[in-house]
Amino acid sequence: MMVREIIIGAARLILGNSYQILPTLGFIPQICTDPPYVLRTSGGGTFRKQRGHTDRIAEEGMDQGFDHQIINPLLCGSVVVFCHNDQVPKLSTYLQGSFDRFALCMWIKTNPMPMANKHYQADSELYIHAWNHGYHPIGGLAAKKRHVTSQVGRGGQFDHPTVKPDRVMDKIVGNIGADLICDPFMGTGSTGVAALKAGKRFIGIEHNPKHFDTAVSRIREIASSLQVAA
Ligand SMILES: C[S@@+](CC[C@H](N)C(=O)[O-])C[C@H]1O[C@@H](n2cnc3c(N)ncnc32)[C@H](O)[C@@H]1O
Repeated sequence: MMVREIIIGAARLILGNSYQILPTLGFIPQICTDPPYVLRTSGGGTFRKQRGHTDRIAEEGMDQGFDHQIINPLLCGSVVVFCHNDQVPKLSTYLQGSFDRFALCMWIKTNPMPMANKHYQADSELYIHAWNHGYHPIGGLAAKKRHVTSQVGRGGQFDHPTVKPDRVMDKIVGNIGADLICDPFMGTGSTGVAALKAGKRFIGIEHNPKHFDTAVSRIREIASSLQVAA
């Protein structure tokens, strides 16, 4: 696929395959990303029809996981990575072997789907913050909570099944000390919006042209509103 690149203020957005592009960017202090989960998209029983976004996740291959090498410590000083419940054992083992420290953190959903079937309710999502010496989380005691509460995001608004809410991304970015954040699985640009609001530089990579265009317009919008406010 042809690589396309757009610069908007402090943001550099790249349309292409992150496995090819990220290693060419050199050392990045902080990766913050929401990669494809390892997710069982079959089943659902009587609740299946209410889980339309799950079909969408499968259609777009966002249930196939990701190669952990993209978050290796030769490429970054610290990583924040969202993951599904089923990914925790392998991903945390990888991160523990690669970084000095890690913390398992959680987004608690205030409006989860009222369904559970034979499983637990999907009322939370996990993310792991791992870091090497010099790249530790920042913030006062209140900001250093391991959880954030927020409503489920705006997937419908941006036509993407896994948009992360601003409140969640603002909390996470608030725990990042580095002034440059890269999201190699950018989706609609939620990490970039939070990064720019926090006065940081951002590099986002996304391979789906439709989601890339959504990210471009979201980042343009936040960049110009920040400019007006300045
Ligand atoms: C879970 S979504 C991220 C959603 C994002 N957090 C948001 O709020 O919009 C993962 C994204 O990674 C993209 N993706 C998957 N594999 C990729 C790859 N190899 N290179 C670049 N993007 C990829 C998918 O198209 C998808 O939009």
